[in-house]
Amino acid sequence: MSEVIETSDVGAGDNSMLAFDVERVRADFPILEQTVYGKPLVYLDNAASSQKPRQVIEAMNQAYETYYSNVHRGVHRLSQLSTDHFEAARQKAASFLNAASEKEIVFTRGATEAINLVATCYGRAFLQAGDEIVISHMEHHSNIVPWQLLRDQIGIELKVVPIDDDGQLMFEDYERLLSPRTKMVAMTHVSNALGSIVPIKDVIARAHEMGAAVLVDGCQAVPHMKVDVQDLDADFYVFSSHKLYGPTGIGVLYGKSDLLNAMPPYQGGGEMITTVTFEHSGYKSAPHRFEAGTPAIVEAIGLGTAIDYVTAIGMDNITAHESGLLAYATERLSQIPGLEIHGRAREKASIVAFVMKSAHAHDIGTIVDRAGVAVRAGHHCAQPVMARYGVSATARASFGIYNRRQEVDVLAAAIGQVREIFG
Ligand SMILES: Cc1ncc(COP(=O)(O)O)c(C=O)c1O
Repeated sequence: MSEVIETSDVGAGDNSMLAFDVERVRADFPILEQTVYGKPLVYLDNAASSQKPRQVIEAMNQAYETYYSNVHRGVHRLSQLSTDHFEAARQKAASFLNAASEKEIVFTRGATEAINLVATCYGRAFLQAGDEIVISHMEHHSNIVPWQLLRDQIGIELKVVPIDDDGQLMFEDYERLLSPRTKMVAMTHVSNALGSIVPIKDVIARAHEMGAAVLVDGCQAVPHMKVDVQDLDADFYVFSSHKLYGPTGIGVLYGKSDLLNAMPPYQGGGEMITTVTFEHSGYKSAPHRFEAGTPAIVEAIGLGTAIDYVTAIGMDNITAHESGLLAYATERLSQIPGLEIHGRAREKASIVAFVMKSAHAHDIGTIVDRAGVAVRAGHHCAQPVMARYGVSATARASFGIYNRRQEVDVLAAAIGQVREIFG
């Protein structure tokens, strides 16, 4: 790499933070300073999308203000600088996941596109009628529908691993569903609707014993815990930047080099070719083979800065902080009469989904909003999970690095108001 302009400090003020200090972290997030309906904003919708620290916003501004240009194609100075920053972001994503090489990192629009890419390129090249794909009952729609599209195109079968009442993967059923016909296991690492952490390393090991490849949907894992794709031995691992304190419009597909390079391209266009004639086109190797057209340059740079940010804070610090919040929120909400938490897995990330006897999830969301509390209400793009529990929607509070215990108290008090209104 020739030269990368130093961006402003990352990591809650400096890079050597020893103890986690939530107030210092909060000071990095300008959006949290505001009030909503005259109440301090309590942002508990992090599983849908998290807020952005000043460091990310500034890195993106700096790119536009000082060195922005298209990447890869230019000989001029700005293009070289943009390319260096863009490729540095790829390197950061590789280190973040502990990939063996940055060549295993494909930038996509997000997790959804990454899964569609694998379903399309790996699926069409390596799967055929009669093959089976195993998913779980707690997948996000984006890890269900792409496989259904593939099923309808080439005649594969989809098998679904059940979950128990606490929202845990039923591992013995998973093992029973695996067969020599299983060619792909596509499973979430953490459920966005329940918070359950799937024992994904064991899932992968069993799949590999059967000769199946594994795609892991890591959207709800990477913001909360250290992920090491080599230790997991994942074949594919996907996540979206915008849930990791980075910008929208960019995500990561990690894939083992040999698999990526054996797959045909996803889209055709500039940047992914070696030569083009009217008779024939040659394709670059991964990752550029899968990055046709001008990529989301500044978004990638923003993601790289977000990765620097959480890395400087320390993923273990983040996990510990959020575990405390999860335990406290679970305790406080469990005490509220008529409130039932959905998802009581032994291993959970900081997501608390709940229903109330007296009020619909949307009413809960609307009333707590008036107290300045942002939660999500709905099916969370996981309708099969809703069906499993016989509800149409849940309210979901999801916690991130900047949330505090007192915000759990504000949430609990706001739910108290729901009870006053609905009984
Ligand atoms: C578990 C999970 N997978 C996939 C997605 C899709 O992510 P995106 O919409 O950023 O592509 C989400 C988003 O909510 C998610 O929570």
